[in-house]
Amino acid sequence: KKRIVVLISGNGSNLQAILDRSLEQNIHGQVVAVISNRPDAYGLTRAEQREVDTQVLDHTEFETREAYDYQLKNLIDSYHPDLVVLAGFMRILSDPLVMHYHGRMLNIHPSLLPKYKGLNTHSRAIEAGDTEHGASVHFVTPELDDGPVVIQSKVPVFKDDTELELAARVQEQERNIYPLVIEWFCRGRLTMENNKAYLDGNEIPENGYA
Ligand code: GAR
Repeated sequence: KKRIVVLISGNGSNLQAILDRSLEQNIHGQVVAVISNRPDAYGLTRAEQREVDTQVLDHTEFETREAYDYQLKNLIDSYHPDLVVLAGFMRILSDPLVMHYHGRMLNIHPSLLPKYKGLNTHSRAIEAGDTEHGASVHFVTPELDDGPVVIQSKVPVFKDDTELELAARVQEQERNIYPLVIEWFCRGRLTMENNKAYLDGNEIPENGYA
């Protein structure tokens, strides 16, 4: 089984889906640790309930991003992961950290990339009058939310949607696509080369599988 370290900052609903999936179906991977930058992240409780190791590395205790990321790298590496999964980890990662996990770090972003990189994606989609929105799973590369997309899931945006309603609709999709992509990776089917993602050796289309 592949060793997975999951990084979180909050609720951890994606983490929960990954834990459930690794228990119910054989995703060929095991979450060996959950690391949070926030001591109060509810995802830590979810991990403890499954007897998964938890670690808090509080960013407010560090002077610089570089110092934090250096410790984070050491902490992650102490678990010897095959894969690092960002699941609502709300920090920008410095280049050396990203490069260290080149080809073995995944992120889920709540938009149809390349649209709406960064924060507040749901309200931006509503404000723009978009009729569809969604989530993307992608490999992490140094440029923020820019790595090759593996899969996207679309949801409709309804006329009177609030940000919360739309977020909930997107997150329901996230719980399906993230475990699937992780399974692909753990089974050795998913790779990244020259900034392109491949499934079973076939180049994945520009915006990922739908
Ligand atoms: C998810 O919707 C994820 O896409 C988003 O945060 C939420 C975390 O939810 N990630 C980002 O915005 C990354 N920039 P969760 O803690 O319940 O998994």
